[in-house]
Amino acid sequence: MRKIAILASGGDAPGMNAAIRAATRTAIERGAEAWGVWDGYNGLVEQRIERLTSRGVAGILQRGGSIIGAGRCEAFLDDARRRECVDYLRSVDIEGAVVVGGEGSLAGAMELHRLGFPCVVVPGTIDNDMPGTEITIGADTAINTAVEAIDRLRDTASSHRRAIVVEVMGRRSGYIAVMAGIATGAEMIITPEHPVEIAEVIREVAAMAKRGKRHFIVVLAEGAEWSAEELSRHINAARGTLVDGETYLARPSVLGYIQRGGTPSRFDRILATRMGIAAAEALLEGASGMLVVWHHNSVQIADAAHLDPPADPWGETLGHVHRITST
Ligand code: F6P
Repeated sequence: MRKIAILASGGDAPGMNAAIRAATRTAIERGAEAWGVWDGYNGLVEQRIERLTSRGVAGILQRGGSIIGAGRCEAFLDDARRRECVDYLRSVDIEGAVVVGGEGSLAGAMELHRLGFPCVVVPGTIDNDMPGTEITIGADTAINTAVEAIDRLRDTASSHRRAIVVEVMGRRSGYIAVMAGIATGAEMIITPEHPVEIAEVIREVAAMAKRGKRHFIVVLAEGAEWSAEELSRHINAARGTLVDGETYLARPSVLGYIQRGGTPSRFDRILATRMGIAAAEALLEGASGMLVVWHHNSVQIADAAHLDPPADPWGETLGHVHRITST
């Protein structure tokens, strides 16, 4: 291959730039041209591409976001538009693409692969919800960001004797919630994978208040049954109904997009660099329909048509966590 495209698709994730830099420089080192596609698949549909140079990707390893933009693309769901994109890529002599992104981006790349256009995908999403890989680029940084925020919220919760319901991102996955919850010693972690009854939450809150604990931190995954606002309302509504207990006043706090931005952690920089290199190498050697994965402590290339669903080890972990934080 003499000319490849690189695009970042879906929600941005810290470390995407490191993957773009690594894939670009690997391609150039191997004698190929690297072309950045603007704003994910939107740039293919709208024919917005730009040549990437070694110097042009300097100084981006430590930057959050994506220098070539990212984004979701409705138009790309249409088969006819995808065929037009392949025609366009071929018309400008681009022979393959490295796609950095989450599940939707992988699905898009697989459609291109089925149309005979080679694609290799680098898993980039804070949600860590992709099949076949134990970790995705950006999850570690997002968890660090959430941990820092929750530590701060705990100070306020303790000072005011409050319950704070902290909503973290993750789409349908509770990964960020579980990891950030463990790392901050949260009193409760609620995920879509392991739903709890509202009565159980109220019971826990009341029990902790009765024991004299000054704060109650709930880390709530955004995909869970209630929003932080709703759960706080439930907790506050139960205050008047408790027989012998004072309890906490609950307040919601939604961390939102701060989890997506910011400088990537050391782990994400290294993971993204290794995955970006592996993706470009595989593509240039003729691979297609493949996902770069982290498996058994190493970077591997897996057939994207046959991936295991994301593991759900959190049930057991959550059980242990609740026992050790219920002091
Ligand atoms: O996939 C990353 C993510 O931040 C999810 O955690 C969240 O559900 C979603 O993207 C938000 O998407 P948008 O940027 O479209 O609001």
